[in-house]
Amino acid sequence: MPGWEIIGEEERAAVNAVFDNGGVLFRQAFAGLRNGVYKVKEFEQAFSRHAGVQYGHAVTSGTAALKVGLKGLGIGPGDEVITQSHTFVATVEAILECGATPVVADVNWTLNLDPEDLERKITERTRAVIPVHMLGVGAQMDEILAIARRHDLKVLEDTAQALGGTYHGKALGALGDVGCYSFDHGKLLTTGEGGMVLTDQHEIYFRARCYADHGHEDNPAVPRGEDTRTCAGFNYRMMELQGAIGLVQLQKLPGSLAKHRANKAMLQARVEHVTRNEEIRLREIPDPDGDNGDSVIFFLDDAARAKRVARALQEQGFGFKNLPDALNWHFAGTWDHIFGDMAPYRGRDLERDVWRQSGEILRRAIALPVFYKMDEAYVARLGTALEKALQA
Ligand SMILES: Cc1ncc(COP(=O)(O)O)c(C=O)c1O
Repeated sequence: MPGWEIIGEEERAAVNAVFDNGGVLFRQAFAGLRNGVYKVKEFEQAFSRHAGVQYGHAVTSGTAALKVGLKGLGIGPGDEVITQSHTFVATVEAILECGATPVVADVNWTLNLDPEDLERKITERTRAVIPVHMLGVGAQMDEILAIARRHDLKVLEDTAQALGGTYHGKALGALGDVGCYSFDHGKLLTTGEGGMVLTDQHEIYFRARCYADHGHEDNPAVPRGEDTRTCAGFNYRMMELQGAIGLVQLQKLPGSLAKHRANKAMLQARVEHVTRNEEIRLREIPDPDGDNGDSVIFFLDDAARAKRVARALQEQGFGFKNLPDALNWHFAGTWDHIFGDMAPYRGRDLERDVWRQSGEILRRAIALPVFYKMDEAYVARLGTALEKALQA
């Protein structure tokens, strides 16, 4: 699963090298002190090259990346942005931060955006859609991109949970207008905290970059103190130590991905064997070759049984990847603190009356995390525990 499993001496050496070369921690300026070291810029270039996208801008978190990406698209008050009911709360928070209105569509058995419900949710105020590639698996991007094209909508991919994944050979995050990533401590590539905005369109990149630095245009013709500006912004700057760590983690990514995919195959085979006599449904994966190997997900026949099986697994010492243990942070149907006061939702039971389809699917799901350091013995123990849990 996470980059923290493989963080170590190489990252420590990269951090020390920043201090050995002037110790400038700010991503730009201070040219006389830094011996030509610009780690954040280097990381942006390497990361965008890796994804096959032209421009990358690094920021302080995945949440900041979403907001900065939306700002880059020019999203603001009066605009509606459609996203999905199964996501981390940050996706909806970023839309709200821009003063826009979040409109939430159901997910289907892919656990990602249901294209049919996306189309139903479009109004004349819809400006953009945020498909979220949850738990390592790309959404149905062919369908989503076709709908977006038909309705002239911008597409921002929330790729926080699917870094390294692909869709028909192209990097997740490189398919729409903007791709946003998270490098927090639980992600495949980690800089502790951090995020990235990718785009092929210079206009979007420029607007996003300026917004993330108080409107600074980083005009090479003038010193920073006299920098030009045309819009207000905020501070979401990544700093040099994160850039240095990110570069090392990026080098480790191919090996890490290969290991995750192999470990997922091993775990999935075990789950399929243990559940061979059960009515178990596996998560639908639109492009199995592009799965980044994050987790193995299956659905029990009803929510109550899923709860019992999860509890029995937990009692035997095994954990989950958000489903079901952190569902409350990943399902809009439980977010009364956000939607309870909004006009279309006030007084309604969000799960029963608004996102019923999503709730019925999500509450039946069990997601088993895949780890980098997962061996055959662990998988065998988990298989035995699952066998026991299914009898619970
Ligand atoms: C789908 C999704 N979007 C956005 C984020 C926010 O990323 P960060 O924690 O870097 O702010 C997360 C974090 O887990 C996430 O899972």
